[in-house]
Amino acid sequence: MDYKELMDRAKEVSKNSYSPYSKFAVGACLVTSNGKMYSGCNFENSSFGMTICAERNAVGSAIADGEREIKAIAIYSPNQKHCYPCGACRQVLNEFKAPEGLDVITEDENDELKISKLCELLPEGFNL
Ligand code: THU
Repeated sequence: MDYKELMDRAKEVSKNSYSPYSKFAVGACLVTSNGKMYSGCNFENSSFGMTICAERNAVGSAIADGEREIKAIAIYSPNQKHCYPCGACRQVLNEFKAPEGLDVITEDENDELKISKLCELLPEGFNL
């Protein structure tokens, strides 16, 4: 899988972020074991707790389309390099990680892609 394309899509969808309160735009694009890609951006609410993160928005689209195994997700914010998923999103990604694991792709200060493993970002994630 071309992680550069995944990151390009994450950048593109971050432009649609609805984040008038935090002014922190985020875009995410994931790829499933079937090679399908799904994008999502964060969208906030005047009732702040209702905010949905970009990652969970992308996961929701994948699930609604019948997908269950996520191989990788790229995350981008124009506001911050190394935009890692929040704790809640790490747990949601854990639910749908592919058997071989899930790569989390971020961009560093030099605009280089960095690949982290979800199991490193969420050691001992909760499973039933
Ligand atoms: N946000 C995400 O979209 N993903 C994350 O992993 C962290 C935070 C959003 C939520 C909120 O709209 C804004 O970033 C500031 O927290």
